[in-house]
Amino acid sequence: MTSPSLALVTGAAHRLGKAFALSLARMGYSIALHYRGSAYEADAAVQEIRALGVDAFEIRADLTIPEKIDFVFSLVDEFKLPLKVLVNSAAIMPVGKPQELELHDWDSALDLNLRAPFLLAQQAAKRMTNGGLIVNITDIGAQKAWSRYPSYTVSKAGLESLTKMLARALAPSIRVNAIAPGLVLPSNVVTEEQWHKLIQKLPLKRAATLDEITSALEFLIKNEYITGQTIVVDGGYSLI
Ligand SMILES: NC(=O)c1ccc[n+]([C@@H]2O[C@H](COP(=O)([O-])OP(=O)(O)OC[C@H]3O[C@@H](n4cnc5c(N)ncnc54)[C@H](OP(=O)(O)O)[C@@H]3O)[C@@H](O)[C@H]2O)c1
Repeated sequence: MTSPSLALVTGAAHRLGKAFALSLARMGYSIALHYRGSAYEADAAVQEIRALGVDAFEIRADLTIPEKIDFVFSLVDEFKLPLKVLVNSAAIMPVGKPQELELHDWDSALDLNLRAPFLLAQQAAKRMTNGGLIVNITDIGAQKAWSRYPSYTVSKAGLESLTKMLARALAPSIRVNAIAPGLVLPSNVVTEEQWHKLIQKLPLKRAATLDEITSALEFLIKNEYITGQTIVVDGGYSLI
């Protein structure tokens, strides 16, 4: 990268989102690091990024509220650097069979996992006047019928559809792709035993490392001839 550019990563205080932010920082991007509740972790992540020699600032926002997305971009604009990359990583995974899922758990997953990436992409596209890349983090579950997580699964399937639609609409200057991990880090909705059992079912018999997921982002940045695609990084999960 020749001149300084900005990357916005949502849900980046910890775990996968932080790994995406660090990976972009290592590639030389200044980082707008979004978080919602994890203030302490967000501070620490910003310090870690600055120690790499690039600028970083944090933005706190509940992305289920559309007006907060305008607020995110008002802060992005203050940074006065061209926005080149948006990574939509923030997501929630409510648990409950379709017969029992509460309305709130349907709406909140759709609002955060699907509507927010759409609104963020709209705002990002206005600013990516000299080209850019939007990467939506989906899940191998988008291709499955996970009845324990109906709103999550539907939101991620919708996000893959949105990825293709936006890729076509925003071409040729902006590329839009998705990364679909399988198992990386256990969430608090699975026990250690359930996680271990899931891993044993995988053809590759292990969870992905963070580097194996972020290298897909690096690949999408370097290869400028890919748009509208979902890069699956799942250790063979899609085969079972
Ligand atoms: N972990 C895996 O193995 C795995 C596998 C497949 C796909 N994925 C996908 O990869 C992405 C990252 O996964 P992860 O496990 O690292 O996620 P995570 O730990 O669940 O973190 C999700 C992030 O979403 C943010 N968030 C939650 N509610 C929010 C709201 N209302 N507004 C704004 N932000 C909100 C949280 O921010 P705060 O903490 O600041 O509140 C958190 O940083 C997700 O899209 C997930 O679906 C993960």
